[in-house]
Amino acid sequence: MKLPTRVKLVDVGPRDGLQNEKQPVSAEIKIGLVHRLQDAGLKEIEVTSFVSPKWVPQMADNAEVMHGIKRKPGVLYSVLTPNMKGFEAAIAAPREEWPDEIVVFGAASEAFSQKNINCSIAESIERFAPVVAAALEKGIHVRGAMSCTVGCPYEGEIAPAKVGYLAQLMKGIGVQRVDVADTIGVGTPRKVQAAMEATLAHFGVDAISGHFHDTYGQALVNTLAALELGVWNFQSSSAGLGGCPYAKGATGNVATEDVVYMLHGMGIETGIDLDKLIDAGVYISEALGREPNSRASKAIRTKRAG
Ligand code: HMG
Ligand code: MG
Repeated sequence: MKLPTRVKLVDVGPRDGLQNEKQPVSAEIKIGLVHRLQDAGLKEIEVTSFVSPKWVPQMADNAEVMHGIKRKPGVLYSVLTPNMKGFEAAIAAPREEWPDEIVVFGAASEAFSQKNINCSIAESIERFAPVVAAALEKGIHVRGAMSCTVGCPYEGEIAPAKVGYLAQLMKGIGVQRVDVADTIGVGTPRKVQAAMEATLAHFGVDAISGHFHDTYGQALVNTLAALELGVWNFQSSSAGLGGCPYAKGATGNVATEDVVYMLHGMGIETGIDLDKLIDAGVYISEALGREPNSRASKAIRTKRAG
């Protein structure tokens, strides 16, 4: 198959990237990151999550961050809302501060569903259904994240049929597009393609995105494997930040810088200015007191220093 000629990236750094950080990161820094990402040309940014602050303290400032961002026209801002309580909190602000899209998040693995959102897969769908309906009714888009589509920290390898089952349930409640997530970064190209194919039975290729954590260094090659199936939406984190609090040992999402470097090198358009993106990654990494976790960023900064 011919590869897509353009790709849309969702930077999930402010949410997935920071949710696992033990040190507090101020709302001001998070807002600064969102602003730098939109200036770099990102058209979709996952800003925060409306989850329990007892479970994920780093996201407790969700409303403050949504209030503080100065939106750029043409950019889609999304937030995670696992239940009605989260959705109501996300729309408690004036309309101009509402997210453009909400994300419900389920798992292809029962054990992970229990650990992450404290309920079974079937119960999660029951909880999501009214959230999805309420969002659509208010003109807010709905994405569904599907965790553990190739492997689970508790159950091991996950069969594609389980991914297809979850995709079907998501479709059934009105979710408009889905993320095929390799939460713990164990996937390799053929396995990722199998998870994508199981999802393609229920969603069109334009409604599927790849969300690859880079724990085993496979995220770029898995991105290429998904591109081969025609998938052209991907999620990544500036500076390779991140990890999931309920997936021990899982490292961050693939670095947006590395994905952009690969895509541009293949002549695939992203609309992203790599230099500005690298600066965004440096900004958040300095705030965290570490180096960006991106090989492309490191190489380009070394070259810049000349
Ligand atoms: P629960 O304990 O089952 O819910 O949590 P509950 O309804 O029994 O409520 C318990 C307490 O939580 C109550 O407070 C509620 O008010 C409160 P208390 O009376 O004890 O003081 N509560 C909330 N507070 C704020 N916002 C809410 C909310 N809901 C309940 N929305 C829940 C269920 C899902 C909320 C909880 O398990 C939770 O917050 N989990 C965190 C999940 C999370 O954020 N995980 C990380 C994101 S997912 C991810 O990273 C994967 C992804 O990147 C894809 C991939 O890589 O795989 C997307
Ligand atoms: Mg993730």
